[in-house]
Amino acid sequence: MILLANSEAWPGFDKTVELLKNNSHGIDAMIAGISEVEREVKVRSVGYGGWPNMLGKMEFDAGVMDGTTRDVGAVGAVPDTLPVAALAREVMQRLPHVMLTGEGARRFATEIGFSVDDTLYEDSRKVWWKRLQKELSAAELSAFPDIPLAPLSRTITDPERVRDTTVFLAQDSASGIHAVTSTSGWAWKYPGRLGDSPIPGAGFYADSRYGAAACTHTGEMTMRCGTARSIVLAVRFGHTLRAAVDMAIEDLAELKTGFLAGVVIHAIDAAGNHEVASFQCPEDIKYWIWEPGMANPQKRIARKYDPLLTT
Ligand code: GLY
Repeated sequence: MILLANSEAWPGFDKTVELLKNNSHGIDAMIAGISEVEREVKVRSVGYGGWPNMLGKMEFDAGVMDGTTRDVGAVGAVPDTLPVAALAREVMQRLPHVMLTGEGARRFATEIGFSVDDTLYEDSRKVWWKRLQKELSAAELSAFPDIPLAPLSRTITDPERVRDTTVFLAQDSASGIHAVTSTSGWAWKYPGRLGDSPIPGAGFYADSRYGAAACTHTGEMTMRCGTARSIVLAVRFGHTLRAAVDMAIEDLAELKTGFLAGVVIHAIDAAGNHEVASFQCPEDIKYWIWEPGMANPQKRIARKYDPLLTT
């Protein structure tokens, strides 16, 4: 068994560990933990504590992958719903689809009995409006929201807030390797923007035979490189987990156009190894790890890897 998650996982990590110890299915254990993260207002990147889109509306993304069956459920840009990882699991279990977005995802949530949640934290609303007041002219502010938003997407992006995901990876007591993600996405994103967190193969991937990977930070890069799937495939082809993660980062480092910023990769393999590596993140990135030999989960610092600096 093993549980790996990024630093934002703190409100729910212990709960997931307890459930794994009690032989829960890894997906159930991780969704129980992520639900705590989604409700925690101090986590400013997921659920209720997250940041709204340009229009001041919360839109959530989440993904679930069962590495034994390779079943996937995902939801994107979902309004008025806090437990979006749980909603992604329902998509996986109840529908012949992999992904629902926007109003369709909300309609499905209502059909299966999810409450309509208040999702905009007052502090997030205030910070969002202050930001708009800084960026927009008086005429634009009085016409808002009936103004073109595309030009704003170039100016309003706040790199300090492009950090928006929680990712959990587990190998459970049945040796199933699974992945779950949840996020409010970029602060001040264009309405309808999806990041990598609901995109299987980019933001998350799991295969119980080989391992799992999940990414945080700049989804606009990992979607272009199929990062999570590339790592699991490299392990399948015989590379060590570290080499697989490094090759994925080398792919990201090749990108020269588009929005480029930091990426953090979390990965586990079927032999019980784990790797967390950050690319182009100046600060130390922390993560949580638990294995059966540990009395308590440990918080550790990710390895920095930047091929542009080391070659
Ligand atoms: N990795 C999270 C996002 O791009 O939304």
